[in-house]
Amino acid sequence: MSDVSATRIVEAKFIAAIGPGAGPGGAAGALPAPTVAEIAFAGRSNVGKSSLINTLVERNNLVRTSSTPGSTRQINVFEARAQDGMVLHLVDLPGYGFARRSKAETRSWQGLIEGYLGTRVTLAAVVILVDARRGLEQEERDLVTFIEQAQGVTRRPVEIVIVATKLDKIPRSSQKSALEALRRSVGRRIVGFSAVTREGRDDLWRVVRKSALGAEPAVAE
Ligand code: GTP
Ligand code: MG
Repeated sequence: MSDVSATRIVEAKFIAAIGPGAGPGGAAGALPAPTVAEIAFAGRSNVGKSSLINTLVERNNLVRTSSTPGSTRQINVFEARAQDGMVLHLVDLPGYGFARRSKAETRSWQGLIEGYLGTRVTLAAVVILVDARRGLEQEERDLVTFIEQAQGVTRRPVEIVIVATKLDKIPRSSQKSALEALRRSVGRRIVGFSAVTREGRDDLWRVVRKSALGAEPAVAE
């Protein structure tokens, strides 16, 4: 690859799945011991969370993706090991905003997601995915507020990274201006991304590993 700083993943594996009502300890009880920095991926159903994780770890099918919204129904934890030894957990959260779920189901999943985001001590960053064509809607703004307010509970600052995905669906000539408009409306850094062209993968890795490890990669790979 032409970008020498690209994070090369040498191993990626499934670690755990946590569903609503996973025992008396709730979601936290079934999560792996909090020893590895975690990056969580959140966003509405079908936005492309699972596809993005597959792109990050360079596997086609480590994480199940689907054209049917709501395919990820649990918190799934994956472990990625990079060539330089970096080990991170990537946490695929169930998508929200899926209308055909019952109210009770929606509530229990929301509890699961908020429980995780609000209390997980090893959480280093939350990547919030939005469709590049839609930008942030109320749910995403609420999510940002929730994460910011949970700060004291999570015990360490959690970086919020907004990713505008499915960038390939915007004509190339207007991608830059679309991202710029999004950046202005959100007032935060936005990483443009596409699981189809893999655009943005290296940028996102850079941001993610910096928030997890507090540093850029020490050596070019
Ligand atoms: P849930 O698990 O239901 O919350 O969905 P998800 O956010 O994990 O989405 P998933 O990765 O399963 O992708 C949903 C659909 O969008 C699939 O048909 C993907 O192929 C498609 N998709 C995901 N990312 C991209 C992208 O960058 N570009 C394009 N064109 N399609 C994408
Ligand atoms: Mg999914």
